[in-house]
Amino acid sequence: MLKDLRAFLREFRENYHTTGAVVPSSRYLANEITSRLAERPSTPVRVLEIGPATGAFTRKILTHLGPEDTLDLCEINPKFVAHLERWLGSLSGTPQVRIFAKSILDVEPEEPYDYIISGLPLNNFEPDLVGAILEHIVSLSRPGTEFSDFEYWSIRRLKAGISSRRERERLRAIEQLVTDFTRRHGNQRSVIWRNFPPASALHFRFERADSSPEE
Ligand SMILES: C[S@@+](CC[C@H](N)C(=O)[O-])C[C@H]1O[C@@H](n2cnc3c(N)ncnc32)[C@H](O)[C@@H]1O
Repeated sequence: MLKDLRAFLREFRENYHTTGAVVPSSRYLANEITSRLAERPSTPVRVLEIGPATGAFTRKILTHLGPEDTLDLCEINPKFVAHLERWLGSLSGTPQVRIFAKSILDVEPEEPYDYIISGLPLNNFEPDLVGAILEHIVSLSRPGTEFSDFEYWSIRRLKAGISSRRERERLRAIEQLVTDFTRRHGNQRSVIWRNFPPASALHFRFERADSSPEE
């Protein structure tokens, strides 16, 4: 745990833009973000976790998986990849776990996923990138795929209050993208206070494989 914290703090300082958090998520947020996976069917499932970093969600995900299931981890930061490889190498009896050491935009799986869990710091990115990532996540799904994500509670509103005009415009554009995405795919939101900072967990269910808005 201390190793995880140290690795996270270092990446927060050195790669704030992609890390987007000071400390790993709490177990309370991990419980909530994996709550859809906890209700999985008994048939084998394919799970994708985006941005696992030091594995705060991965640990919980693994408790819901058996040897017939597959878990793909997509992590862009090579230091976090090395951290995950060391940790996963020390585990035994895990389901099939693969690590994709690249951006989520470069992941082209052979089959769609049943569950997608993301910890990406979308509010740090440019709106074009946020839009491309959300569309790509839909393209990795099938009808019925559960997608769970989180963002820090009221983060866009709080940041906007202390930001430059350009930054406020960027945050407003992301707000619009998230609102459109929510309108298309529906979501359930719950606030997890026992996290630093407090976070909103968002759960979406894709009803169809394409992402075009309904007419
Ligand atoms: C806020 S941290 C989340 C860490 C962990 N899930 C948690 O909750 O403690 C965001 C993670 O997303 C990763 N990341 C950022 N952009 C990415 C991308 N385009 N593709 C894959 N991973 C990315 C970062 O390297 C980092 O590990």
